[in-house]
Amino acid sequence: MPFIVTDACIQCKYTDCVSVCPMDCFVEGPNFVVIDPEGCIDCSVCVPQCPVDAIVNAAEVSPQQAEFVELNARLARAPGWRPLTQAKAPMDGHEQWAGVACKRAHLRLTW
Ligand code: SF4
Ligand code: F3S
Repeated sequence: MPFIVTDACIQCKYTDCVSVCPMDCFVEGPNFVVIDPEGCIDCSVCVPQCPVDAIVNAAEVSPQQAEFVELNARLARAPGWRPLTQAKAPMDGHEQWAGVACKRAHLRLTW
């Protein structure tokens, strides 16, 4: 199963994950990134890079995060979402958002 990004990434986007992916699988939206499941080779290299532990194996996702399996696949192909292969500065306010639980309601689909 591919790896997926879950809601801890929302409003943070640390992007440490994107620069280590050998397959360039990461796709960026306005306040979240996703992994394209078509490209992911399940290497898990990205997992320890995320400071907020947002990346998990789709086979091990919690029931509360199960929606993110479908969201990663769909948003990787969504209009306006774009490949991201180099790390960049995290979002403004990431320090406050990093500790917030259940950020799903804050996911933005369009820029
Ligand atoms: Fe890329 Fe490997 Fe992470 Fe998949 S598990 S997104 S291939 S670094
Ligand atoms: Fe998001 Fe963590 Fe990557 S916050 S951008 S999944 S390093």
